[in-house]
Amino acid sequence: MKIVLVAGARPNFVKITPLWSELQKRGLDCAIVHTGQHYDDKMSKTFFKDLQLPEPDIHLGVGSGSHAEQTGKIMIEFEKVCFRLKPDLVIVVGDVNSTAASALAAAKLCIPVAHVEAGLRSFDRSMPEEINRILTDHISDYLFTTCEDANKNLRQEGIPASKIFFVGNVMIDTLKQFFKLAEKSNILDELRLKKDGKLSKYAVLTLHRPSNVDQEEVLKGIFSALKRLSKRIPVIFPAHPRTLERLKSFALDSMVTYVEKLSDRDLKGSEKNVWMMSPLGYIEFLNLMSHASLVLTDSGGIQEETTILGIPCLTLRDNTERPVTVRDGTNMIVGNNPERILSASFDILENGLNGKRIPKFWDGKAADRIVEVLTAKLVT
Ligand code: UD1
Repeated sequence: MKIVLVAGARPNFVKITPLWSELQKRGLDCAIVHTGQHYDDKMSKTFFKDLQLPEPDIHLGVGSGSHAEQTGKIMIEFEKVCFRLKPDLVIVVGDVNSTAASALAAAKLCIPVAHVEAGLRSFDRSMPEEINRILTDHISDYLFTTCEDANKNLRQEGIPASKIFFVGNVMIDTLKQFFKLAEKSNILDELRLKKDGKLSKYAVLTLHRPSNVDQEEVLKGIFSALKRLSKRIPVIFPAHPRTLERLKSFALDSMVTYVEKLSDRDLKGSEKNVWMMSPLGYIEFLNLMSHASLVLTDSGGIQEETTILGIPCLTLRDNTERPVTVRDGTNMIVGNNPERILSASFDILENGLNGKRIPKFWDGKAADRIVEVLTAKLVT
């Protein structure tokens, strides 16, 4: 049995890691295909190294482009891979353009497709990811879900129960696998957040969604709130290349202090700042996140990771496709209104969070369950 595992963007690399290990463990023939959607070393290579993944077997090298360009290029290139390798199964993860494009190319060749992290819905079709989720789910043969909400969404869309498998969250498998290693990272010392063994309070920020970063007024509003928050605690901001580019093009980069090298933070004056830096690797970021007083983000995966870490998370969006992180976890949806961001942040800093629960099956064994299902289905 030949399996192809597809990944293209940063969060995909985190999700394929436990799947790849589990397939290896069982001696299954698996090739990793990297679409090249993310190509900067810090968005891609660093992750393969940190996550102890081998070099991809095939690199499609598609790079950036408009949605249609990127999706189209991935389909064309991935179809060639399918012709060449003739896989018995293609596994796709998450909701990025690489996910939908490769699933569509495979499905049209009648190759069975497994979608890991199926069924999540924000019910907001202005998000490109929502289109990718719906499309991928409806053309996949095996739908692996992380929560009951996802099972319900799929059933409501008419997907037969026989295709849905509630298995848990592969992103949490990876977090659990690498947590101890991350604790050994010296990122907190490098950022001068730990001095003489004493940890400072700080917030972590990530921001990259078009709805937050593509309009000048919205981006300016968010950073005006963060600037005010940083008078209370430093805000550490490993920036996505797209956000860095937008801050520069709107001439908003004076609202943050950019540090080329992490140790430069010492040299640039007041602690009270929004400190922007290049994207961090998985291990460094996990350590940084797990000791923060507060995380502000528009990422999907970070809402889940903070839930497991028990770190308060403010999601700078109007909705989430991961409501379980609000109901059971540490997540709160605050949108991008500056006053709301600020008042929610201060509230968390003063009052903390009430007791929270770990969502069902977020236990580090999701990949094991997935491969168990697939082998039972495909080998018989
Ligand atoms: C993509 C996903 C998003 C996911 C995010 C994780 C889609 C539609 N979006 O968004 O769901 O949360 O990845 O990071 O698939 N760029 C670089 N270097 C890179 C990659 C991107 O400079 O290695 C810049 C390019 O200018 C590019 C822009 O970032 O045009 C956006 O990249 P793209 O892959 O289109 O989407 P993301 O915003 O990264």
